[in-house]
Amino acid sequence: MAILKIRLYPDSILRKKALVVTEFTEEDKKLIKDMIETMYAFEGVGLAAPQVGVSKRIFVANPSGERGKEWVIINPRILKKSGSEILTEGCLSLPGISAEVKRYKRLVLKYEDLSGEEKVVSLEGLLARIVQHETDHLEGVLFIDRIGVLKRFKLLWKFKNTRI
Ligand code: CO
Repeated sequence: MAILKIRLYPDSILRKKALVVTEFTEEDKKLIKDMIETMYAFEGVGLAAPQVGVSKRIFVANPSGERGKEWVIINPRILKKSGSEILTEGCLSLPGISAEVKRYKRLVLKYEDLSGEEKVVSLEGLLARIVQHETDHLEGVLFIDRIGVLKRFKLLWKFKNTRI
């Protein structure tokens, strides 16, 4: 297992629409193991494949932070969404900044798991939040795109000017 390098904003891969996984390979399995290790190493609750330089529709999540309870989500599709909630969010590709982001509170998510099996689940709480953030990554969307323009400008200034 390896800890992968995280692509930081404004790396162009973060803006690309990731590709659907049609054939799940050994290489993908290794990637997922490494993504889980990388998520823990950087104390994240979610990590999408484009953030480690792979433009595929895969992400990992772990709202509890407890090892062994990771979610591996392949080819996610949000089928239903309802309610709304404002929570503070950050991103491993934009370290050092965070903002309040309004998102849906509840989701119905369709995805494929590690064995390629298709699943449909109802989600709420932190996991629903992570799923929306990570699914955005697969579309080339970042949390800073979901806040007001002035706030975005301020945060990006901070991001660019306070990093070593
Ligand atoms: Co992120």
